Amino acid sequence: MSEKETVGVVGVGWVGLVTAVCFAELGHKVVALDIIEEKVSALRRGEVTIHEPELPKLLRKNAERLEFTTSMDEVLDGTRLLFCCVDTPPTYSGDADLSRVRAVVDRLPEDGHHALVMKSTVPSGTGAAIRRDKPDLPYVSCPEFLKEGSAIDDFMHPDRVVIGADEGSEWAADAVARLYAPLSDATVRTDVASAEMIKLASNAFLATKISFINEIANVCEEVGADVTEVARGMGMDDRIGPKFLNAGLGFGGSCFPKDTQALKMLAGNIGYHFQLLSSVIEVNELQKRRVTSKLSKHLGSLDGKRVALLGLAFKPDTDDMREASSLVLAARLQGEGAEVTAFDPVVAARAGELLPGVQMRPSAMEALDGADAAVLVTEWPEFADLDWSEAATRMKTPLMVDGRNFLDDDALVAAGFAYEGIGRPPRSANSG
Ligand code: UDX
Repeated sequence: MSEKETVGVVGVGWVGLVTAVCFAELGHKVVALDIIEEKVSALRRGEVTIHEPELPKLLRKNAERLEFTTSMDEVLDGTRLLFCCVDTPPTYSGDADLSRVRAVVDRLPEDGHHALVMKSTVPSGTGAAIRRDKPDLPYVSCPEFLKEGSAIDDFMHPDRVVIGADEGSEWAADAVARLYAPLSDATVRTDVASAEMIKLASNAFLATKISFINEIANVCEEVGADVTEVARGMGMDDRIGPKFLNAGLGFGGSCFPKDTQALKMLAGNIGYHFQLLSSVIEVNELQKRRVTSKLSKHLGSLDGKRVALLGLAFKPDTDDMREASSLVLAARLQGEGAEVTAFDPVVAARAGELLPGVQMRPSAMEALDGADAAVLVTEWPEFADLDWSEAATRMKTPLMVDGRNFLDDDALVAAGFAYEGIGRPPRSANSG
């Protein structure tokens, strides 16, 4: 049985809240700080403001070990390890904005008793810069690899745990290793700069995999191949692996767009042109725009046509709209003069402000009603089971662009739809 700590968490966004709740689930006491009072009050009442499966349940289950506060003194009192989980959004220049990280560091004492554990994604060199300013503050880099939508499971069953520390911070690194010991045997103990780079390089590599398969998909469309078959065949090679080979409308979310940009800028700032990453980012931007030409192929001008978007979140099981492909797609369709209706099972309430002019509907079927075409943007499981025969009769033209290659194309074609995926031959009742 591992010893129990009192853990400090600073910043209760996605990563911070999951970290706090999971450490509490492991039996530790957690004191978590956020500067937003309403968020802290809601969490004290057991209310979670983000959509993440399992999180509300675990929050309530472990309430007695979880304390939420706006006071740094309360966090420092009784804790040794302070997990920094504040966000590092992109600045206007594309570099990571470290002002929130700095604000945390400024408030930490150099008393030899407290250590800073960095979970926020920061550029390589951040740890070294913090230690130059505060040489007596032990510092551990412990990047987080969780995915939204499966965050609890990812935290509890990590593929690996990365712990980076330099001279003088060993006790803190050992303490972090003890906290993670029940979760994984695969621990990478390394220096701070390498730990920081493992996180950035991992995200950049996964983003590269997605842009790569999206480009293969675009070539498949020209040569009549099916990218889902290509990905299946590629993925059986152990060296390649089947994951992150789903072609679609491009990657979004709070991490890949920001972290690829930040790594490109980090390289640029030291005079290195990260050519490959620049292409990965550009391919992703263009991928979000390819849908309009697929629609025009069937409908001609989109001016005055009605297009229904199924799903708006950047991926299923989250209500996160950051860098969602739906934002670009809706604006592009409106730019072509189309009327846009939409349905998403969780983002509906907030979507009005994010998607001006888009008509939100209370169900998928109502979004499809009277539409000239539909685009599946987010692969929410419930869309797989829609009654496609009914949908075909309610739509003006039964045309589906499946932006995630998610739907059962046989079922759609049988119901009378013309079906277009991404990187697959188009199908309709006539083409079979
Ligand atoms: C990602 C990383 O996976 C995680 O390790 C890191 O900590 C944070 O960033 P997340 O942004 O939550 O996690 O989502 P993820 O499941 O990785 O998907 C990112 C985007 O890529 C989504 O828009 C998704 O639709 C897209 N994607 C993913 C594809 O287009 N194809 C794929 O094969 C996989």
